[in-house]
Amino acid sequence: MFTQSSSVSVPGAHARAIAASKKARWELDRDVIRGRVLERSHKYLPDGLSLVDQLDFLSADEQRLVSQVQGRSYANIFGLVERFINAKVLELSNHYWLGDQVALEALVRFSDEELKHQEMFRRLEAMAAREMPPGYQLAADPDQVAQVVLQKSSWAVLALTCHIELFTLVHYKDSIEADATLSPLWKDVFRFHWMEESQHALLDELEWRRENEKLSPAQRDRAVDELIELVAAVDGILQAQAAADARYSISILQRELTPAQREATATTFLRAYRYQYIASGLQRTRFPDVLFGMLSESQRQRVNAALEPLL
Ligand SMILES: [Fe+2]
Ligand SMILES: [Fe+2]
Repeated sequence: MFTQSSSVSVPGAHARAIAASKKARWELDRDVIRGRVLERSHKYLPDGLSLVDQLDFLSADEQRLVSQVQGRSYANIFGLVERFINAKVLELSNHYWLGDQVALEALVRFSDEELKHQEMFRRLEAMAAREMPPGYQLAADPDQVAQVVLQKSSWAVLALTCHIELFTLVHYKDSIEADATLSPLWKDVFRFHWMEESQHALLDELEWRRENEKLSPAQRDRAVDELIELVAAVDGILQAQAAADARYSISILQRELTPAQREATATTFLRAYRYQYIASGLQRTRFPDVLFGMLSESQRQRVNAALEPLL
């Protein structure tokens, strides 16, 4: 959509984002939930993201259970990252409090939508908690994560945010939309989420490029290190959540797995989570083009070296 040489101010971009936001606008109970609950008889997260089809020692019913545990965490982790995303969007809106009121409206709508999405993910978690046995744990606290993330520069936070918004779109389009085996409610949650996230991805990129233009080479160099620190922090959360979810999944199966099967389950969870939150955005979206277009050769090498062990 944007080339490296394009100006940060794209004429009409904010007005188009507002128009698209108005068109997509939905309400949680009226349009998404519609009195439904999560069904135990369906998968939640599709195999292309959960990788449960690689756990061939599990029966179809057991694979469905693993898909439900992962689908529960998938929604919870979106709720978690949207805490810091929304705080950053509100902070950046101050550039437009006076002046460009169209840009301000685009960011206020963005924020309003992320608040609504967090409520949607909380509702989904409450339903999942009712359907599934006790013992599930979310490994990180949204406010504590936001405290750490928001200490970094806006450039680094916007880079991470843009990455998240872009892989959200590709997960829905590539893996969720066409899968008829998924829970209709779970699937609708991510369909309606996708509808509003399309605008967010554009706005993130605009704001990120705006920040990029403001940085001196030394500041950008520091911001690259901060992005690498953020990716390491994300991976720390993924490691903790993958371990917790593998443990929980194994505990709710109706039989004992062998030590080798338990090990394979834990390894597959971590590989799936790293694919979902790190690799898919780098391999399947234009995020690396945008990022690497802003960086020097030595910065590119630093980022690649940090990412390599996670891919
Ligand atoms: Fe969202
Ligand atoms: Fe978003």
